[in-house]
Amino acid sequence: MLQDSFGRRFYYLRLSITDVCNFRCQYCLPDGYQGQAQQFLSLNEIDTLVNAFAQMGTSKIRVTGGEPTLRRDIVDVVASCAQTEGISKVAMTTHAGKLSSLATPLARAGLKQVNISLDSLDPAQFALLSGQDKLNAVLDGVESAIVEGMNVKVNAVLLRPWADAQLRDFTTWLKDMPVTVRFIELMETGQHKAFFKSHHVSAEPHLAALKAQGWQPLPRDKDAGPAIELAHPDYVGRIGFIMPYSSDFCDSCNRLRITALGKLHLCLFSEQGLDLRESLESGNVQAVKDFVASSLADKKVSHYLQEGITGITKNLSMLGG
Ligand code: GTP
Ligand code: 5AD
Ligand code: SF4
Repeated sequence: MLQDSFGRRFYYLRLSITDVCNFRCQYCLPDGYQGQAQQFLSLNEIDTLVNAFAQMGTSKIRVTGGEPTLRRDIVDVVASCAQTEGISKVAMTTHAGKLSSLATPLARAGLKQVNISLDSLDPAQFALLSGQDKLNAVLDGVESAIVEGMNVKVNAVLLRPWADAQLRDFTTWLKDMPVTVRFIELMETGQHKAFFKSHHVSAEPHLAALKAQGWQPLPRDKDAGPAIELAHPDYVGRIGFIMPYSSDFCDSCNRLRITALGKLHLCLFSEQGLDLRESLESGNVQAVKDFVASSLADKKVSHYLQEGITGITKNLSMLGG
C-alpha cells in the first residue's frame, strides 16, 4: 500500500483523461481556454498506469477531465479500469450533459459512482455559471445514473451572493432525491484571484445551520476522504461539505492525481507534475511503480491554502479537481 511520511494511505487515484470541456464554469475554465494541443493518455497508457497503481494497493479510480465524457473512447477507458485486477471501484466526475445517453453503457462497463458538477437548480443561474443553457440535460443525466443504480453525488461550489439560495434549493430537492449534494468551498487558483475574492464564502455557518436543523454528521471510516457527510431522518438525500480551508482538511487525504498528459501530482496544489510519460509509453509497469513509490516522499502535509500560498495551480480543468 502506498503510504506517505505522515502515515496517510493512498488507495484512490484521480485520473484526468482530457482537459477539454464544452462548459465554461466561471471558477474552473478561463474564457477562451482551448486546451493543450497535445496528446492525452492513450488507452494503452491508461492500462499500464492503472495496472501499476493497482499493484501498489490502489482500489479506486476516479476518471476526471476536463469533461471525461467528451473522449470518444470513454466507455473503453472505464471498462479497462474496471477490469484491472485489484480495482474494485470506478467512479467519474462529470458535468453530466451527456450522461442520459451514456449512463447505460458506462454502467455496463463497470462505472459505480458519478459525481456531477451542478451549482444551481435555477435554469438562468445555471446557464450564467456554466456557460451552457443545459440544466434539463444535466438533470436527465442525474436521473439516468440513479436508474442505473449508480451512487450519485452532486458537487455544488458555494458562491457569493447565491450561497443561501443554493443551500435552500438543494436541501428542498434532497427531500426525495437519493443523492448526496456536497457543498464545496471555492478554492483560489492562479487564474481566478479576483473571482475568488468576490465569490468565496465559508461553509462553516451553513454547516452549523444545518446541524441546528437536525442534520447529523455521519461516522467516517478510516479511509474516508476529506469530505464531511450529514443525514436527516426526513430526507432521502444526504448533504456533504468539502472545506479545504478548514485546518485539518488534508489530514485525511487519501488520493493521488495524474493529469491527462501523464504527470503525477502529489496534491491538487502541488508545484509541478512529475512526468511519467516515458514509462507509460513503453508500457513499463515496474518503472511506473518505482517512480511513484520514490516520489511519494515529497508529498507535503498540507496544501497550505490557509497561509495564502496559492495560485500555483492555474485552474482545476487539467487536473480534474
Ligand atoms: P468521493 O470519491 O465521492 O469522495 O469524491 P471526491 O470528493 O474525491 O471527488 P470529486 O471529483 O467529486 O471532487 C469534489 C471536489 O473536491 C472538487 O472541487 C475537488 O477539487 C475537491 N477535491 C477533491 N479532492 C481534493 C483534495 O485532495 N484537495 C482539495 N483541496 N480539494 C479536493
Ligand atoms: N474551487 C472549488 N471547486 C472547484 N471545481 C472546479 N474548480 C473549482 C474551484 N476553483 C469543482 C467542480 C467539479 C470538481 C471536479 O471541481 O465544480 O465538481
Ligand atoms: Fe468543465 Fe467541469 Fe470545469 Fe465545469 S467544472 S468547466 S464542467 S471541467
